[in-house]
Amino acid sequence: MEHMLDKDVERVLFSEEELHRRVAEIAAEIDRDYAGREPLLVSVLRGSFVFMADLVRQIHLPCTVDFMAVSSYGAGTASSGQVRIIKDLSEHIEGRDVIVVEDILDSGNTLSYLLQLLQARSPASVRLCTLLDKPSRRTKEVELHYSGFTIPDYFVVGYGLDYAEKYRNLPYIGILKPCVYGGEE
Ligand code: PRP
Repeated sequence: MEHMLDKDVERVLFSEEELHRRVAEIAAEIDRDYAGREPLLVSVLRGSFVFMADLVRQIHLPCTVDFMAVSSYGAGTASSGQVRIIKDLSEHIEGRDVIVVEDILDSGNTLSYLLQLLQARSPASVRLCTLLDKPSRRTKEVELHYSGFTIPDYFVVGYGLDYAEKYRNLPYIGILKPCVYGGEE
């Protein structure tokens, strides 16, 4: 580790190499599943921007990209349950094969709302691809097609994931020290 933010990290959960390997596997699955089609990858900002950037570069099919911004969390670590659209898609998705790209699926609140909203726009298909899945925290059922890693209820940062907007630039995914967010040691 050689980052100024490393001192706030209890341990590395997934190294850059592990992330690279797993992202390549997901891209290969997408290549196989969408052969002959041209999927539209929708990155849900902000957390997914790093995963999205790595994923699209490992997908060999022609594909297009678009971005949405939603907000469901305040400055804390727990979902408030409220979902707000901050930036909508630029593209029409009617008839398109949409893959929603997320960094983490937690309670399912954000994604269940978002998937419903996208389904209402008559795409040919919608699938969800998340790098991390925390099933133990799920309160809303969400259909998940591509999942990088299933993790316990750790507070993770890095590779796009933040705490209070920081740590997104860490190249690995790490577990944040509880003292950073006022949790128990
Ligand atoms: C994260 C993540 C999902 C959502 C998942 O975003 O990117 O959008 O939380 O949580 P849920 O399953 O409990 O709804 P966050 O609100 O932290 O915003 P960010 O992507 O800008 O960091």
